Amino acid sequence: MNVQDLIIKKRDGQELTREEIEFLVDGISNGTIPDYQLAAWLMAVYFKGMNAAEIRHLSLAMAYSGEVVDLSEVDGITVDKHSTGGVGDKTTMVVVPLVAAAGVPIAKMSGRGLGHTGGTIDKFEAIPGFRVELPHNRFVEQVNRVKAAVISQSGNLVPADKRLYAIRDVTGTVESIPLIASSIMSKKIASGARGIVLDVKVGSGAFMKNKEKALELAKDMVKIGQGADRQVVAVLSNMYQPLGHMVGNSLEVREAIATLRGEGPSDLEEISVVLAAHMLVLGGRHADVNLAAGEIRQLLKSGRGLDKFKEIVEAQGGRLDYDIPACGMPRARFKAALRVNRSGYVTELNAEEVGRAAMLAGAGRERLGDSVDYTAGVKLIRKCGDYVENGDAIAMIYGGNEAKIETAKKRLAQAYRFGDQQPQPVPLLIDTIK
Ligand code: URA
Repeated sequence: MNVQDLIIKKRDGQELTREEIEFLVDGISNGTIPDYQLAAWLMAVYFKGMNAAEIRHLSLAMAYSGEVVDLSEVDGITVDKHSTGGVGDKTTMVVVPLVAAAGVPIAKMSGRGLGHTGGTIDKFEAIPGFRVELPHNRFVEQVNRVKAAVISQSGNLVPADKRLYAIRDVTGTVESIPLIASSIMSKKIASGARGIVLDVKVGSGAFMKNKEKALELAKDMVKIGQGADRQVVAVLSNMYQPLGHMVGNSLEVREAIATLRGEGPSDLEEISVVLAAHMLVLGGRHADVNLAAGEIRQLLKSGRGLDKFKEIVEAQGGRLDYDIPACGMPRARFKAALRVNRSGYVTELNAEEVGRAAMLAGAGRERLGDSVDYTAGVKLIRKCGDYVENGDAIAMIYGGNEAKIETAKKRLAQAYRFGDQQPQPVPLLIDTIK
């Protein structure tokens, strides 16, 4: 087999066989295919797409291109969740303790953030002392004892994806549904959980800017999971504006804790309940998602979700004091208010722009390996549909560098649009695919 023939075959819109795809993935993992041939092949896939069989072969070959996590020693049916990426998306910090409190095990491997979307691991690392690296036996032991552990993805999980993603990033081939679906699902399959709930985001802050594309991605991912003998549910949710009010690592930890106390924003609570309920169903705890949602609400109300959060944090060496402001996490040295110079309704709050502003304040990384200021971020005081008076502070920007805060403030101003008419509320939940 030769790579050039496979590039030409895809360029001409033909289907690649399983053997051909496995040959390509081998060459990607062991470095025998040079970047320029991969770039050409990726562009051919971008334009010609892949059918369901090709996507399945690609995902499975990638999933087994490196280490595969063995969760056979975990008691019960392990479940996992994945969000396709959003701004202010701290649902994992809410959902994991709620699901664990119901007795369904979660062995969660998460990633760091890049660009305008935050990464779950960065958020947990904002908790002083929290260890995101645990040896496999300790990881499994904690999942059995506490019912949940959250660690960072091992360096050898799906090496083919690391190489492919780096090339996609610089060749304009990130926004391809077969490539996104196989990239995400290969990592989920290699992470070992039997049940997977996908939160597919739609809107300005997400990879998928419209519902049709998001539906296509969701359907492809569900099919890939089922083809790998996993149970998968995809929930489509809106990311036209950020989730909750806080964007930035320690700010998001605080908002997740407030939500577990029953004092969080309604959008974050709503999506967390839905995702957690589907996880309870996949974990075999309930047959009916509405009954599962009832149990999750009860766990929120009783404070047992928050107790489980505390247990997970403690098990992984984290130190928080839940009775003092900011739960004892370091607070930003500087802050600035963004004020409006007109009255009216907020008609738009562009999630991607908010994410970029938070990143400029220091909350995210532009390049892999950049350091993150955990205290940096944005608090959105006003969101879509809210009325503002001339001179009101609509957002606060936080961080350890005054100049960065000023740059972030200018960017954040661009995220808001105002009008005289109150916009219609947009439902958070769009669809569910099984
Ligand atoms: N997240 C991933 O892990 N991969 C993609 O291609 C896009 C989002």
